[in-house]
Amino acid sequence: MTSLLETRGLTMRFGGLTAVDDCNLGIREGELFGLIGPNGAGKTTVFNMLTGVYTPSQGSVSFAGRDLRGLGPVRVARLGVSRTFQNIRLFDELSVLENAMTGAHQHAHCRLFDSLLRTGRHHREEARQREIAYRLLAFLGLEDRAGLPARSLPYGHRRKLEIARALATQPRLLCLDEPAAGMNSGEKAELAGLIRRIRDELKVTVLLIEHDMRLVLGICERIQVLDYGKTIALGTPREVQQDRKVIEAYLGAEA
Ligand SMILES: Nc1ncnc2c1ncn2[C@@H]1O[C@H](COP(=O)(O)OP(=O)(O)OP(=O)(O)O)[C@@H](O)[C@H]1O
Ligand SMILES: [Mg+2]
Repeated sequence: MTSLLETRGLTMRFGGLTAVDDCNLGIREGELFGLIGPNGAGKTTVFNMLTGVYTPSQGSVSFAGRDLRGLGPVRVARLGVSRTFQNIRLFDELSVLENAMTGAHQHAHCRLFDSLLRTGRHHREEARQREIAYRLLAFLGLEDRAGLPARSLPYGHRRKLEIARALATQPRLLCLDEPAAGMNSGEKAELAGLIRRIRDELKVTVLLIEHDMRLVLGICERIQVLDYGKTIALGTPREVQQDRKVIEAYLGAEA
């Protein structure tokens, strides 16, 4: 089975530190795949290489058969890879709907002239983006808040709005960087259901970084474990949970 996303020997060095070392990922279309590991293991750095934020020091990244290296975040997003950030990045003064629309906007086919001149095409494009954004807010249960400023949202809802914005680019692969961080247990349970629905109903492949083990083990089909930049395990939740190296990495991190 061919992978939707595949990395070979992916490596990122920062000066003397090798943050990610020879990472091979293979994520199948339609999969819900977890990437876990103790703090500083290199998870976010992997996301940054996948989404064009960093150019890998070594190795390859291919998505749907295309080489993503050196393309930068905007072009990678246009090809269908979208992400949320570990530290929420919203426009506080914009409305919830406008924040979601900033995702759809990346995809806009409008030329600069159209928006400067406010042509018919511009208006149609904006109406289309508004429609996509609104539907996603409804999907995530945020439609009642559409007109409120993003800053007025409680924390759990802010995390969901980040997901709405990432989905508004209409990705094939959604990368979530600790979406449950700061959520209470009720919000986490709801998020688990949402992530499943994103994959099942929107048909989006999901790559999930998450520290909450219950959430990861509960929803992912396969999990890859990093420790100090290296892959120490790859398998089903059951396999990974019973893996000695994984247990040691986590116990070591706690001790
Ligand atoms: N831009 C950077 N410059 C230098 N070092 C960096 C940079 N980004 C990350 N690192 C280092 O690379 C290592 C991996 O960091 P990364 O943020 O990828 O870990 P992580 O697995 O996402 O951790 P966490 O669970 O805490 O979010 C860490 O030692 C970190 O300090
Ligand atoms: Mg991180």
